[in-house]
Amino acid sequence: MRTTVYYQNSLKEAAECLRCGGTVAFPTETVYGLGADATNSEAIAKVFEAKKRPSFDPLIVHVASLETVQEITTEIPAAAQKLMDAFWPGPLTLILPKSDIIPDIVTAGLPGVGVRMPANPIARELIELSGRPLAAPSANLFTHTSPTSAQVVLSMLDGRIDGIVDEGSCAVGIESSVLSLAGERPTLFRPGGVTRAMIEAVIGPVDVAPPIGQDSHAPGRLSKHYATTVPLMLNANWENYTEANRIAQLCFADTDMREGCVATEVLSPKGDLIEAAQNLYAAMRRLDRDDIDIIFATAAPEEGLGIAINDRLKRAASNFFQ
Ligand code: TXA
Ligand code: MG
Repeated sequence: MRTTVYYQNSLKEAAECLRCGGTVAFPTETVYGLGADATNSEAIAKVFEAKKRPSFDPLIVHVASLETVQEITTEIPAAAQKLMDAFWPGPLTLILPKSDIIPDIVTAGLPGVGVRMPANPIARELIELSGRPLAAPSANLFTHTSPTSAQVVLSMLDGRIDGIVDEGSCAVGIESSVLSLAGERPTLFRPGGVTRAMIEAVIGPVDVAPPIGQDSHAPGRLSKHYATTVPLMLNANWENYTEANRIAQLCFADTDMREGCVATEVLSPKGDLIEAAQNLYAAMRRLDRDDIDIIFATAAPEEGLGIAINDRLKRAASNFFQ
């Protein structure tokens, strides 16, 4: 398969490919997604195959209008409406009861479908031009970190997908928050670009799904998500490693830096959470090298976007949730 590269001026062709059941990666404000027509089971099967993703992990459906949300769901609870008004378009995915238009393969048989309206105008234009809701998981191979540039998508998926829209790097850099409104209480499955505090300010208290590993049935909460190939240790004790190992450090801020490493990445020298989220996956990828034995990472402050950053670092780390 040849992967066609599209740009802003060839979005119509990319949309045509999607309408015909193709797979096209595209930028959102969080990370690149691998899109396919969410109403076409065959197209969705190609997404799972390209990513080598197990079919029990459901996909998020991306929309460009509220009418489409009504078509793909059976009910929009009042809390969902408030959150859409407050945060859409933006990095918040809401799990809502799905209508029959969405085939079971999209939700891995679950009754709820994750819906999100991306803030990136290129993404919304592509969805509009395709005339379909687009299912799009992050455009990486299963268990790898999410791509924040087209080059990184192609390094993993060139020849495995029909196309990619190349439109620069992603502003937020970390995936959307995933909130379920399908149960009795709103439950945060994944911390992300819209923080828990921002959500609670609009709809009141939300539950947080139990830490990964304790609830192995919760989809998409596998601990080996978002990993580097080189073992990564989070807030670990360095003393046992310094002798023989080639150590890299992944620092949150300048103040976390130490001597004696073969490579250093600082997510935000001044310790700014927004900047750190933007840099996280690219920095992890740059340290994922053959000449490095171990990556020592330091956590962000556990507040705001830092909660999402630490969630991804914990999932990548060998010393957490094993
Ligand atoms: O920012 C994002 O959300 C990016 C961009 C491309 O939109 N997408 C993304 O998709 O990160 P993905 O598939 O890599 O992660 C979606 C997460 C997974 O953990 C999945 O299990 C969960 O959301 N999810 C999706 N639909 C769900 C559902 N119906 N019920 C429970 N969890 C769901
Ligand atoms: Mg993903």
